[in-house]
Amino acid sequence: MSAPRARAAKRATRLSAVVTAGPTREYVDPVRYLSNESSGRMGFAIASALARRGARVTLIAGPVSLATPSGVERIDVTSARDMHAAVAKAFRNADALVMSAAVADWRPARKLAGKWRKKDGGAKTARLDLTRNPDILASVARGKGERLVVGFALETGDGERRAQAKLRRKNLDYIVLNDESALNAIRSSATILGRDGSRQGLARRSKEDIAEVLAELVIDKARLH
Ligand code: CTP
Repeated sequence: MSAPRARAAKRATRLSAVVTAGPTREYVDPVRYLSNESSGRMGFAIASALARRGARVTLIAGPVSLATPSGVERIDVTSARDMHAAVAKAFRNADALVMSAAVADWRPARKLAGKWRKKDGGAKTARLDLTRNPDILASVARGKGERLVVGFALETGDGERRAQAKLRRKNLDYIVLNDESALNAIRSSATILGRDGSRQGLARRSKEDIAEVLAELVIDKARLH
């Protein structure tokens, strides 16, 4: 093994990372919820790629049906608020956070105790009041200090400008920009934008390939405690 590769391998074994994946689920009543199409594959692939390099990985996953990558500690959560609590706790002792979960921005203002029923002969429309969920990434990254934080942005239109703004607003080190073709897709294009002005385009790659690049980046750039 070459000296730089040996150094990278040694760094990886000292790294502790938190990775989030999948959607969150926000219940309306005991049987209905708001959620999204996220498969969780990106986050699981990142967790797997980091663990294969020897990092200690905590994977905080929303409801998905994927096998836990080997060597990864998995914490299953349901709602954005559950995920927020789990991320805040796990990140206290970690060097890096990769936030690939598709967190629901809104949740029903109230969860009904019983099933939401349509009333006989009732109205043709209904309303659902929503409450804003916490921005987990922005909240955790605010107090990150020197630790590495990577966020994701799924954008339409002028994505790069928006992702740059998000990078700054949420105090991130890197943001991975995807367009909507990434949702549940086999191959997708991504651009990794850095706070340091760096820009790496990854065209039509599998999620696993993108995960390998991100794992290398995290191991290379994270400061170890
Ligand atoms: N995120 C989060 N908590 C939320 C919403 C998003 O931690 N409540 C994280 C995602 O995991 C992702 C990043 O923030 O890493 C980008 O989320 P996005 O929804 O694109 O950004 P918003 O700031 O919510 O902007 P908008 O919905 O207006 O595009």
